[in-house]
Amino acid sequence: MVAQGNLGPYGTTRIGLGEMPLTLENNLGWEQGIETIHAALGAGCRQIDTAWSYYCSGGPEQTGEKLVREALATWKGPREEVLVATKVGHFRNFTDGKPTWDVDGRPEALIQHAKESARELGVEAIDLLYFHRPDPKVPYQESIEAMAEILHQGVAKQIGISNASMEQIGLARGILGSSLVAVQNQYSPIYLSTQDTLDYCAQAGLAFVCWSPLGGYRKAKDETKFDPFRRVAQAHAVSYQQVVLAWELAKGSHVFVIPGAHRPQTILDSLKAGDLTLSPEELAQLG
Ligand SMILES: NC(=O)c1ccc[n+]([C@@H]2O[C@H](COP(=O)([O-])OP(=O)(O)OC[C@H]3O[C@@H](n4cnc5c(N)ncnc54)[C@H](OP(=O)(O)O)[C@@H]3O)[C@@H](O)[C@H]2O)c1
Repeated sequence: MVAQGNLGPYGTTRIGLGEMPLTLENNLGWEQGIETIHAALGAGCRQIDTAWSYYCSGGPEQTGEKLVREALATWKGPREEVLVATKVGHFRNFTDGKPTWDVDGRPEALIQHAKESARELGVEAIDLLYFHRPDPKVPYQESIEAMAEILHQGVAKQIGISNASMEQIGLARGILGSSLVAVQNQYSPIYLSTQDTLDYCAQAGLAFVCWSPLGGYRKAKDETKFDPFRRVAQAHAVSYQQVVLAWELAKGSHVFVIPGAHRPQTILDSLKAGDLTLSPEELAQLG
């Protein structure tokens, strides 16, 4: 059984599937995407993380949400058990011919994209909708007020924020109150600067969702940061990725992880991390 936790009002798996690699540049195709999502769900995963902006630059928008919808529609299991989270506030672009990410946190854009997300996911109201990333051109408060309006209009049931600082979490809590249920920030052995927000979420009763929990799908700049995890993995005869995820989950019962995968094998391995118990000595060693 994949480790379970409470994310706002939802009982769900603490390990979710990060959908991004399935529909970004270098993805392995639509069928492989469906197969990977089905494999995750078949193994008990009940949380999928996607975004309005998970598509190839220049390609059709919202491909990730379309993929999730088709995968759920063709899955024979209990659809109602699956928590689908998506995000608004980002879009894809090009800079000097290279694919890039741009932000648009204007209230009207967030509200429009939220409605488009609900439509592509085929739901009346989105389970959990994140504001993807602060837009420096728009006061944070205005973007969060738009998220409150989205909630008010019934387009989303719960709100999350992503890439948020301590100050921004405080501001969002002030506007959204208990409808703010989750903070999704980068966190992994190669990215620990968000530790303050992870700790704050524990006190504030918010879920903390680690994005790129394995350091991202590109090769890390400093691979040696994973060496202690490789040593512990050897002792347990598991992949070091399982040790990384188990170490993150051990940071608190409010912590969730959404590892990405291009193929069934990797997500199936990641989902086993919930069965791995690290000793206090091992956790102390890993930091
Ligand atoms: N909120 C945000 O701003 C934001 C930003 C970035 C990402 N995200 C979310 O976070 C999710 C995860 O991030 P990510 O995809 O960038 O990186 P990640 O989860 O840190 O790493 C994904 C990579 O790790 C590999 N992998 C996963 N499990 C493995 C295992 N058990 N053994 C060996 N290799 C394994 C995958 O390999 P294969 O490719 O071989 O399958 C993939 O290349 C995304 O999908 C997205 O949903 C959110």
